[in-house]
Amino acid sequence: MRIWAVRKILDGEGGMSCLLLLSCALASVLAACGEAEKPPMPTKSSAQSALVPLPTTEIQKFVDIHWERPIAPQGKPPARFSPVEAALDPDSCGTCHAAQFNDWRGSLHARAMGPGVLGQLGDMKAGARDEHQECLRCHAPLAEQADSLVAALASGGAFADAPQGAPQPLHRHGVMCAACHVRGHQRYGPPRRDGSEAGDPATLPHGGWVSSGAFADSRFCAACHQFPTDGYALNGKLLENTYEEWKASRYAREGRTCQSCHMPDRRHLWRGIHDRETVQAGVTIDVTAPRIQSDVLSATLTIKNTGTGHHFPTYVTPRVVAEVYQEGADRKMLKGTLREYFIGRLVSPDLSKEIADTRIAPDEQASLDYQVPPHRNAAALVFRVRIEPDAFYTGFYRDLLAGGRAGKGEQLIRQALKESTASAFTLYLNRQPLPDPAAR
Ligand code: HEC
Ligand code: HEC
Ligand code: HEC
Ligand code: HEC
Ligand code: HEC
Repeated sequence: MRIWAVRKILDGEGGMSCLLLLSCALASVLAACGEAEKPPMPTKSSAQSALVPLPTTEIQKFVDIHWERPIAPQGKPPARFSPVEAALDPDSCGTCHAAQFNDWRGSLHARAMGPGVLGQLGDMKAGARDEHQECLRCHAPLAEQADSLVAALASGGAFADAPQGAPQPLHRHGVMCAACHVRGHQRYGPPRRDGSEAGDPATLPHGGWVSSGAFADSRFCAACHQFPTDGYALNGKLLENTYEEWKASRYAREGRTCQSCHMPDRRHLWRGIHDRETVQAGVTIDVTAPRIQSDVLSATLTIKNTGTGHHFPTYVTPRVVAEVYQEGADRKMLKGTLREYFIGRLVSPDLSKEIADTRIAPDEQASLDYQVPPHRNAAALVFRVRIEPDAFYTGFYRDLLAGGRAGKGEQLIRQALKESTASAFTLYLNRQPLPDPAAR
């Protein structure tokens, strides 16, 4: 089944795709990862563990057990739990944890079961749980979310939104609070900020919580943002390598974790390539003043990765487009003067080939040297950098629709295509005036 799923994507016939599925499927074949489930985590009161920093092997152990997939069902909640303490949906957590809830619901983790994912799941059989896991393990990883998807598929209602005012089924919440924080109805979280001990589990809501330093460690994120070493690779490089890129960078040596950049002050924002300010903080863009010499207009645009803790960008999904062109007094681009440079890891829509890899590693840079004859109407030289965060998926959805392979999810795939182009934005724009044509 899993091998089939991989082949289907490599052949480009099935349509269903995520860049990350491949690793999971191949890795599970090689490592037989679907083996017997481990018993639930032993629980410890936070009072015992909050102040002691865990040695690194303890963190690895915690992460391995916490993120062993498929995640075991939570089981029955303790009898003393009220309904809101027993509930797993994010709105229930939000009644007490309003700050985290308000941040999270604007994040991409909250939208991890958007139309692009759901649209590809709709053709799966309701009972095909292993197949669902190929995607759910990262996009909606709790057993209760898998059950909710099965029920939706069986009733034919997988694509419909819940009626106005009614709660959404659990799988629609994507990477929700409980996916990261709850196992066996026990809450797990980072040590308190001031290192103080949590109160008495008997008096706190949801029986208190267990603290672990693993929540502040980059390996916590690697569970979904890094392929295993034997995962799917193209041109000798893993398709998903964010954690290893980070580990090889100075940020790891300086102790700057994923959380320090993506969850500043523990905020549940997870902003990345879709957010202008985040990208601006991650790169430094410089241009030289334009020069005209022997009838050649020359200038250089340089992009340096000065604050991104991994390759810029890390995934094959985004495309960064650097452009330099001349424009007239009417601010229109003059024909024949545009030079472009793409930054990204370009792969074919069926993920069988790497076409180019021009991503910028931490502290490295890329330059676009512009050398073009000056246009007689040129009034300015324009430097522009555009970000297309979902460029891969735009191509993938177009392919799927053009080939008539979107199946039952066609409406959702159309919506996903629209969203994937709407996310593009201009990161940088700089107009350098040129001397009057008469004077040059
Ligand atoms: C009835 C209110 C209430 C509800 C509902 C609730 N919590 Fe809590 N939660 C608390 C309180 C109070 C604490 C204790 C805070 C402390 O000790 O500093 C806490 C502690 C936590 C902690 C530990 C915080 C830390 O410092 O590490 C986590 C994680 C957590 N809750 C997650 C959740 C999740 C996830 C949900 C929903 C599935 C949830 N909670 C639902 C009230 C609630
Ligand atoms: C190993 C974890 C992992 C697995 C398994 C996985 N994904 Fe993803 N997926 C991600 C991450 C991380 C992103 C965001 C980065 C990106 O866009 O590449 C993502 C992004 C996406 C997106 C684009 C964003 C969006 O919500 O529209 C789609 C579509 C998608 N995945 C579909 C799938 C499908 C379908 C499967 C199963 C066939 C799957 N994924 C399996 C981790 C995973
Ligand atoms: C992708 C995983 C993930 C999701 C989803 C998630 N959290 Fe967290 N949460 C974390 C991590 C990691 C930390 C610790 C960050 C750090 O130490 O820098 C944390 C910290 C917390 C804390 C302690 C905050 C503090 O200031 O001490 C609470 C409470 C909490 N989360 C509740 C929630 C609630 C409620 C939701 C849903 C609305 C949620 N989390 C969703 C990973 C997650
Ligand atoms: C359960 C799996 C899972 C875990 C654990 C997880 N993520 Fe994610 N993350 C995803 C998926 C899936 C997406 C893509 C959501 C989408 O767009 O469909 C994502 C998206 C993101 C994005 C948005 C990227 C963009 O395109 O702008 C950032 C940033 C991010 N994650 C950082 C983190 C960090 C930091 C941690 C650790 C605290 C973490 N994630 C833990 C699954 C996970
Ligand atoms: C020093 C700050 C920093 C650190 C550390 C860092 N990131 Fe990022 N990350 C960024 C910036 C800036 C961006 C936006 C530019 C980009 O997309 O490369 C980003 C983008 C992303 C994205 C968007 C997708 C993409 O293709 O770029 C994901 C996912 C992500 N980071 C996950 C992680 C994970 C997981 C870790 C830890 C292993 C991590 N980041 C460590 C700064 C950081």
